[in-house]
Amino acid sequence: MTWKSEQLSSNELIIREALLTTGRLPKHVAVIMDGNGRWAQERGMLRVEGHKEGMESVREAVKLSSQLDIKYLTLYAFSLENWKRPAREVRFLMGLLESYLKKEVAELHANNVRIATIGKTNALPKPVQKVLQKAIEHTAGNDGLTLTLALSYGGRWDIVRAVQMIALDVRRGKVSPEDLTEETMRSYLSTGGMPDPDLMIRTSGEMRLSNYLLWESAYTEIYVTNELWPSFRREEYYKALSDYTLRERRFGQTSDQLRTATVGPNNTSKPTTMERILDAFR
Ligand code: FPP
Repeated sequence: MTWKSEQLSSNELIIREALLTTGRLPKHVAVIMDGNGRWAQERGMLRVEGHKEGMESVREAVKLSSQLDIKYLTLYAFSLENWKRPAREVRFLMGLLESYLKKEVAELHANNVRIATIGKTNALPKPVQKVLQKAIEHTAGNDGLTLTLALSYGGRWDIVRAVQMIALDVRRGKVSPEDLTEETMRSYLSTGGMPDPDLMIRTSGEMRLSNYLLWESAYTEIYVTNELWPSFRREEYYKALSDYTLRERRFGQTSDQLRTATVGPNNTSKPTTMERILDAFR
């Protein structure tokens, strides 16, 4: 049975319907999965147990994104700075990643998920690079959810890498400095082929970007929840999405300009029933 044909509870059907009716679900959701260590420590467990439990939240987020036809989910699974963690924890995380890809690529493929990565992946252990490459190739033809794993990733690293490649192309005469635009820059980033994230979720209450998608998040809506990542399950994801559908994205314009452009000058724009359901759910 595929994820989309699964039977949902009546509560879930209502919230799903409300979300879909708004027509405002994000195309691209980026997540900073924070708080695994604290989740474990609060329970007197080892930090790595938190990562293990966090994997279940990864599964749920992937599945729900796919069920809601969200096109891109980008997970911050391992930052460049995470290499400084104790070797044992790094080894554990790499093992978790490897077994996730090995065990679940078939299910991901059956659900039309395309796997991609961003980051300095040549720094990953060779066996991890191998399964990653295999998973990417195996799912390359899928056109449902694109699940991008940010691995050994840093936003500044990606920007510097893009600038280096632009400089090389300038030297080769392929690009002229006068013609450089934001679009050119975007195309050199490792996120080049995807839209900017509409929504960035950060768990564990920390109010920072932690070097994640720095260029791409210029106009991203940020949702911070106090839930720790291992506790961020379906209901929490629904809450984040509901919150997002009620945001007004102005991209530098005024509210009046937006209303006039979308619904005409005299529209009073009363909340719909569905918007009221979502508001209550938040
Ligand atoms: C942050 O929690 C989380 C990480 C550094 C790793 C996230 C990885 C996973 C959820 C599992 C692997 C993911 C995939 C996609 C295979 P933390 O350890 O910084 O928690 P703390 O802030 O409470 O210490």
